Amino acid sequence: MRSEEYSQPFTTIAPYYDTLMSFVNYPAWVEYIERILALYERNDRLIFDLACGTGVCLELWYERGYQVLGLDRSFTMLEVCRNRLQKKKGESVALINGDMRWLALHRVYPVITCLYDSLNYLLKEEELAACFKNVHRTLSEKGLFIFDMNTIRCLRDEWGNNTYYRQDENINSVWSNQFDVKNSISSLELVLKIKQNGDYHTIREFHQERGYPLSTIARLLTRAGFTFSLYRHLTFNPAWEQDLRIMGVAEKC
Ligand SMILES: C[S@@+](CC[C@H](N)C(=O)[O-])C[C@H]1O[C@@H](n2cnc3c(N)ncnc32)[C@H](O)[C@@H]1O
Repeated sequence: MRSEEYSQPFTTIAPYYDTLMSFVNYPAWVEYIERILALYERNDRLIFDLACGTGVCLELWYERGYQVLGLDRSFTMLEVCRNRLQKKKGESVALINGDMRWLALHRVYPVITCLYDSLNYLLKEEELAACFKNVHRTLSEKGLFIFDMNTIRCLRDEWGNNTYYRQDENINSVWSNQFDVKNSISSLELVLKIKQNGDYHTIREFHQERGYPLSTIARLLTRAGFTFSLYRHLTFNPAWEQDLRIMGVAEKC
């Protein structure tokens, strides 16, 4: 299905990402994580956000008095993130252009987050397993890994084989999804038509996300050395396969 005209994910859309995601209630997500930190009795004020993207959450953490560090594979997403944090802090910010499948840092951190589908972009079970192991190594003793994931149900039944049209400010977009039941991978052809100075230019990106059974997520977390709970996103109810998005809280043991 993928054609050569489609760019790699999160390359060309970076400057438009925040506009496209303006419907997401990031403050509620950050407040939820603060409730998780309170529940697990953590007072650490340092957050390392994996796959931080354009840094919307990092900015919110910073405003709440946290020290922040971000990592992302996409250079263009990090550029947006860097500008945002620099504007807020008035100084340059440490960000890492890296891949969470091969994360290898010398420092350890008390809290690592990975939000908004980012883990679903790991399309092979071995990649998710490697990421969990890397995060475990990068956490301090009793450190917490807090992450969300879309479920198979979300990819199969919500996104399905549907095409959506949207208009956000100066952007018209078409989101064409296809779900492959064999491997639980959802493929998205995303086309943006952006109006600038009276003209339209077009951007095309191809994205793929994989849904994992909760039992697989649980097995890989255990194997990586975590004790954990899986919640329905934005709640403290146990997650189940019918949820659309789950939240994992994994403690290094
Ligand atoms: C849907 S965006 C979410 C960004 C941000 N966490 C947020 O909440 O807005 C997914 C992000 O994951 C990043 N990403 C995907 N695979 C990655 C990998 N293997 N290593 C690091 N970053 C990755 C992408 O570059 C993108 O910025």
